[in-house]
This record gives sequence, structure tokens and C-alpha cells, in this order.
Amino acid sequence: MKKPLALALLASSLIAATSVGYAAAAAENWDNTCAKCHGADGTGSTKIGKKLKLKDYTDAKVQADLKDEDMVKAIKEGVSEGGKEKMKAFKDDLTDAEITDLVAYIRKMKK
Ligand code: HEC
Repeated sequence: MKKPLALALLASSLIAATSVGYAAAAAENWDNTCAKCHGADGTGSTKIGKKLKLKDYTDAKVQADLKDEDMVKAIKEGVSEGGKEKMKAFKDDLTDAEITDLVAYIRKMKK
């Protein structure tokens, strides 16, 4: 009797996690993968971010100048300048859904 109950509990907690977990997943990906350059708050005011002259995603003008499709492309394909990689391509690390969620997450940083 013990096993089916444990499985049922596991299944229901998995369902709960996926239904509420969406925003949390983007925040988690941001903190783990993006924040070291772009900053947890998206201002790019990290040591690396300043060196790379990253945009401030809390700035309404910066947000207005960015197109969703260009953001998706940057995250998928990475960003290079003069043959030098500035940001790596994340298409092998993140799903399309995760990338779309990250773009939505960046959009919410606007002050
Ligand atoms: C190694 C540092 C670094 C990391 C890590 C990094 N980025 Fe970037 N990101 C950059 C640089 C550099 C640019 C290009 C900025 C420019 O050309 O003005 C950029 C550009 C972008 C752009 C295009 C818009 C813009 O600001 O030009 C988006 C969107 C973006 N990054 C999102 C992310 C996301 C999401 C992650 C995490 C999955 C991430 N970045 C991780 C350095 C980084």
C-alpha cells in the first residue's frame, strides 16, 4: 500500500510545480545563467556587465529599442562582435519556451 500512495503524492506535487512554476523558472534561469553579466536586476551593473557596456533593461528607452525577435535571436544564437563572442548561444541549454519566458522576464524589468 505504501508505494502507490507515494507515487500519487509525487504525481500531484509535479502537477502543482508545473502549473505555478513558470515565472519561477525564468527567474531561476536568469539568476543562474544571465545575472553574472546582466545583473540580477537587469541593469548590467556587474563587473563584467560594465566591461561589456551592457544595456540597462530597467530603462524604458532601452526596452522600447529592443524587439522581441532580436532578443530571442540574441539568446538563441549569442552575440558576437568582430568575430569575438560577447555572449554565448544558449540554444542548446534552453528550450524555446524558456527563452520566450526569459524575454518576458526581461520585459518586466522596465521601471
Ligand atoms: C558573458 C556575459 C553574458 C551572459 C552570461 C549573458 N549575456 Fe546577454 N548579452 C551579453 C552581451 C555582451 C550582449 C550584447 C550587448 C550589446 O551588444 O550591446 C548581450 C545581449 C543580450 C540580449 C540582446 C539585447 C541587448 O541587450 O543587446 C539579450 C536579450 C540578452 N543578452 C539576454 C541574455 C539572457 C536571457 C541571458 C541568460 C540566458 C544572457 N543574456 C546571458 C552578455 C551576456
